[in-house]
Amino acid sequence: MSDTGTYSLMVHGGAGALDNVKDDKTAFRYLDSIRRTLEHGRDVLLLGGSALQAVEACASLLEDDPVFNAGCGSVLNENGKVEMDAAIMDGRNLSAGAVAAVDNIANPVQLARLVMTESEHVMLIAEGAMRFADHCGMARVPEDYFYTPDRVEQLHQARLKHRMMLDHDDTEEDSEDQKYGTIGAIALDPAGNLAAATSTGGIVNKRMGRVGDSPIVGAGVYADNETCAVSATGFGEDFMRTVISKTVADFMLMQGMDANQATKAGIDYLKRKVNGRGGVIVIDAAGNCASDFTTKKMIHGWIEKSGEVTCRF
Ligand code: GLY
Repeated sequence: MSDTGTYSLMVHGGAGALDNVKDDKTAFRYLDSIRRTLEHGRDVLLLGGSALQAVEACASLLEDDPVFNAGCGSVLNENGKVEMDAAIMDGRNLSAGAVAAVDNIANPVQLARLVMTESEHVMLIAEGAMRFADHCGMARVPEDYFYTPDRVEQLHQARLKHRMMLDHDDTEEDSEDQKYGTIGAIALDPAGNLAAATSTGGIVNKRMGRVGDSPIVGAGVYADNETCAVSATGFGEDFMRTVISKTVADFMLMQGMDANQATKAGIDYLKRKVNGRGGVIVIDAAGNCASDFTTKKMIHGWIEKSGEVTCRF
């Protein structure tokens, strides 16, 4: 651990074409949410909170915003149900907690944190995860908490096309349907500790029981004080096959790369091996922030080394 004395924070709200952001008002809506999330995370860190607390707080806020595909804005599966995945990881000791295929939980990232701290396991899924949530006293929310008109219409469109649809897809065919995917948050606190969190509703019209990269340590999320914190967003199957978050960390560990170099190398690998769609946000142990993506855009923002808030697509 290196005590940098400064903090860095990054969040993302998904990657894709974002063709629905056709006007300033819509763009402002998304960027304002990203900005407010970063400002909240900054307050957590300035008040002495850890990187882990900051990423949990930021991911929870994004889960509470229906425009993002996580928490209350989660997309619907083939049965018209929500099945959410989330994970959180502490770079101090590689502690991690994850949940997959959970429903009726407002903040899956908070349940993932409880799996990490209150169980001897790393991942719990479906009914087992829900029983654990009950055991921990976590409130269940009703199903209609998740049914935004946008998500119902999106599932309807996917069913009409008889296929699965990426929430963040950016193929020409999908250009009318593109909205947002996974959310994520990563942080370096002034004590030099890194943490990462990722949460998602997955893919529109996905098979019941499908789990993506977001809750998989090394795929959708990774944090190690020795290297970096990473959160990924995009086509989960590609990220699982390339173990993209750990791959970025390994470029640092084994080749001495910084955040920018390792992020570029990781995305090059994603493209070369599986022509993967999506992106990553990365903070290295020195507090350098980096991002890269293969999609047209990725909505994200950052505060690098206690500097200004910056947000962009
Ligand atoms: N990256 C989110 C998912 O594929 O589920």
